[in-house]
Amino acid sequence: MTTHHFPVDQHPAPQPTPLPGPLRPDSNPNPTDSNPTRSNGDRVAFWAEAARELDWEQPWHTTHTFEPAGPQPLSVPKIQWFAGGRLNVAVNCVDRHVAAGHGARTALYFEGEPGDRRAISYAELQQEVCRAANALTALGIGKGDRVVIYLPVIPETIIITLAVARIGAIHSLVFGGFSAESLRFRVEDTGAKLLVTSDGQYRRGSTVEVKTTADAAVAGQSAIEHVLVVRRTGSAIDWTPGRDRWWHDVVGTASDVHAAEAFDAETPLFIMYTSGTTGKPKGLLHTSGGYLTQAAQSFRFLFSNPDPAQRAADVHWCTADLAWVTAHTYEIYGPLANGASQVIYEGTPNVPDPGRHFEIIERYGVTSYYTAPTLVRALMGWFPDGIPAHHNVSSIRLLGTVGEAINPAAWQWFRAHLGAGTAPVVDTWWQSETGAAVLSPRPGDAAFKPGCASRPLPGLSALIVDDDGVQVPPGVHGSLVLDGPGPGMARAVWGNPQRYLDSYWRQYAAQGYFLTGDGAKYDDDGHAWILGRTDDVLNVSGHRLSSIEIESALVSHPLVVEAGVASVADPLTGHAIVAFVVLRPEAASAAAAAAASSVNAVRSVSEILRAHVAQQIGPIAKPSAVVVVPDVPKTRSGKILRRLLSQLYEGAPTGDTASLQNATSIAGITAALAQRKKETA
Ligand code: PRX
Repeated sequence: MTTHHFPVDQHPAPQPTPLPGPLRPDSNPNPTDSNPTRSNGDRVAFWAEAARELDWEQPWHTTHTFEPAGPQPLSVPKIQWFAGGRLNVAVNCVDRHVAAGHGARTALYFEGEPGDRRAISYAELQQEVCRAANALTALGIGKGDRVVIYLPVIPETIIITLAVARIGAIHSLVFGGFSAESLRFRVEDTGAKLLVTSDGQYRRGSTVEVKTTADAAVAGQSAIEHVLVVRRTGSAIDWTPGRDRWWHDVVGTASDVHAAEAFDAETPLFIMYTSGTTGKPKGLLHTSGGYLTQAAQSFRFLFSNPDPAQRAADVHWCTADLAWVTAHTYEIYGPLANGASQVIYEGTPNVPDPGRHFEIIERYGVTSYYTAPTLVRALMGWFPDGIPAHHNVSSIRLLGTVGEAINPAAWQWFRAHLGAGTAPVVDTWWQSETGAAVLSPRPGDAAFKPGCASRPLPGLSALIVDDDGVQVPPGVHGSLVLDGPGPGMARAVWGNPQRYLDSYWRQYAAQGYFLTGDGAKYDDDGHAWILGRTDDVLNVSGHRLSSIEIESALVSHPLVVEAGVASVADPLTGHAIVAFVVLRPEAASAAAAAAASSVNAVRSVSEILRAHVAQQIGPIAKPSAVVVVPDVPKTRSGKILRRLLSQLYEGAPTGDTASLQNATSIAGITAALAQRKKETA
């Protein structure tokens, strides 16, 4: 097998022949792959060509360099794209479209959950971003400063994100569902000077407090100088004079003229926190020129009308919350860099009724609808027989999913009812680390395999390998690695270079492969099927959570002495979290005594702990079940056997457990589960 080690720039000639190995972008060439041979043979030239689609104030002198981690002694790898090039990311997403005469084109169709609507043209977006950029400068934010953005899906979130990019500062968006503790961690880890938030947000048909959480997160020690507050719900909020500033006062009154400076291509653009295998989330650092290149190119390739003359009629809708990487790339940077029109929706999909998404699709004439398998399963549950006749979703030309593998039944439902049985479905596999889609069927593929993320996109390369880095044969479970990452790849873990090396580059340092942490297998066509995480990361409703983080949250409660968290199959969320907890002896005997007369005490332990996890991390991390057990199974080195916990919960065969440190724990767990079953029967 040929392994590519960069810098390729210094290699003499592009290779015109396809590389060997089944998982290559164009093992199945088709007309929508632009220039397939070149994308295979010379990834660097491919990305250079893609980067030329952007506006650069100064061209780059070196397309790409890669200093790998190995061989021994290992060092933190260094990736660079477009060195010497200078550009402004926000200008590329906004101003250049206005300059090209598209100022009147709608950039955003915003729909709030209560039904308020606002269309924002590219010309208006430019004015708003300029105002926000001037306001940031007035608040003392400059190049390299960090701004944490804790906002719902409203236009101001996109405006401030672009404004941060425009002045060369670094944004980190935090999902509104995260707790004050989670927000505090991100504010402290980034050392942010500014937090941008709102008074509240609309969610599930009512107003939800946001500012209160923001206040709790920045209370006490932090580098935060100001909290900029968008008025969204008009709710009463606490106010810290001097620190807190209203958006409408600071941004609303700022000049809408702003001269943008160009920044080096490797200027940090954003920090995306994601769960890893330890208790602490890691902040993946993404930079400017390479990330924007891949976001723009892959958006065009996957979602734009294949006929450029028809693209003005495209209306894209990525349903992700703006804080997730999915939205960064396919709701903020990718669509805007292409001058696309898109929908952003603040609320939940079933408010006021489960047909809300169909209504939105019809209202705006959505052509590409990109969502998560969990939402598809929810829609399928609400409308098993398809979409009610009074909705018209015939504008849809293409469907996409991301975040987890989609169950074939949900895929079939999705394509039949939202895609008229014929729309292409792009099942895009990627991660916060890769910055953009890596594996996906092509929109122009003749046939689609439900649940299969297929093969690398042009300009990228991936392999499924065994522990020695040797490619596995079809049907054999292996580890998905990237031997040809794209320019959007995360460059670092913020403040922790060692973790970047250890998490991603150490295991296959000899080969220079990037470890994705996902298991996968090839089918007979050489296409990849993703089999889920191979580490202690859980994927619930497409959200990535760390089992250790949840266990730490449980153990931080005075009732709990030990906890093991496992992921079990769930028809709606794909996977659900089940927590096995060992209570402190005094708590356990009190609970046991109460349970002898009633099951309520045990239930309340479960409720207390679920609420505690929601408060520590956020409601998305809440276990769906809490099982009180006498002990959790561990290896001789003390590692909790989470897979065994899943097997026990699901009643699956457990294999050989003789090497456990405490094999007797199994009987206790089995008894607790049997008791639970009896009680809930
Ligand atoms: O396990 C894979 C799963 O989601 C993980 C990445 O999560 P995150 O960094 O939060 O980014 C999600 C959105 C890009 C991956 O390691 N995953 C993502 N997409 C798919 C998937 N699993 C199967 N099929 C997919 N299409």
